[in-house]
Amino acid sequence: RIVHVNGRYLPEDQATVSIFDRGFLMADGVYEVVSVLDGRLLDFEGHMKRLARSLDELGMSHPMTDEEWLEAHRRLIAENDITDGLVYLQVTRGNPGDRDFAYPPKDTPPTVVMFTQSKPGLAENPQADTGLRVCTLPDLRWARRDIKTVQLLYPSMAKMEAKARGCDDAWMVEDGHVTEGTSNNAYIVKDGTIVTRALSDDILHGITRAAVLRLAAEAQLAVEERNFTVEEAKAADEAFVTSASAFVMPVVAIDEAAVGTGAPGPVARRLREIYLDEMR
Ligand code: PDD
Repeated sequence: RIVHVNGRYLPEDQATVSIFDRGFLMADGVYEVVSVLDGRLLDFEGHMKRLARSLDELGMSHPMTDEEWLEAHRRLIAENDITDGLVYLQVTRGNPGDRDFAYPPKDTPPTVVMFTQSKPGLAENPQADTGLRVCTLPDLRWARRDIKTVQLLYPSMAKMEAKARGCDDAWMVEDGHVTEGTSNNAYIVKDGTIVTRALSDDILHGITRAAVLRLAAEAQLAVEERNFTVEEAKAADEAFVTSASAFVMPVVAIDEAAVGTGAPGPVARRLREIYLDEMR
């Protein structure tokens, strides 16, 4: 693979960052994941807006303009011959030359790394036909989940624990209410109404979420943005998750309880179809 590091395009084994980089020592950095279908970037502008917000919330400088980001994405897609897959980008607070809790001076250049992952047939993921089984686990992340930081240890732990329990993924729970999945936003459908947690600092403001809620409204589907409990989710007709890389993915079981019929539901299937049609 050819990857991007601080404005340079290099074979992956030649791209390096400092051991003092704050992304490495402090998880002091943010990231984005943009999907590629048929060589085209999905919802690129939305991801750039969220990146800018994440950087601003952490007082980090913006290493590139949106045009430069677009150019870098396109170049990596071309150099690596990506038809379907994703582009990962990460910006950290850079290399202060030593370890210190205090931020380095403002003029310390941020570190930018980008790479592609090829996923042929990404939109034809067979998991969409079988659905995911999720386990519920306490949400032990920090309280600013709206910022897309690279601090992903707890989501990784939750995913491993879910797998150890025979599930595909975890839904995280706080005060009895589902917050979101380890790397996706969570939804249930009851009597034709789509229910998903409202935006706040408690969850990531999913770019796919925004698109899916817009498309649901256009398709005259009822949407309620509010908290829902694990019990409510288990008694729902359907459940699903959304993310840039999974699009709309049905959830068919929660803690071993089948959701609805135990098969992907009609609303989730329809939204997946509408979303992929709109994005292509
Ligand atoms: N994850 N919630 C969390 C905690 C996430 O990490 C993600 C994205 C989402 C969905 O956001 P979006 O629709 O903008 O992808 C929700 C990415 C895909 C990842 O970490 O790989």
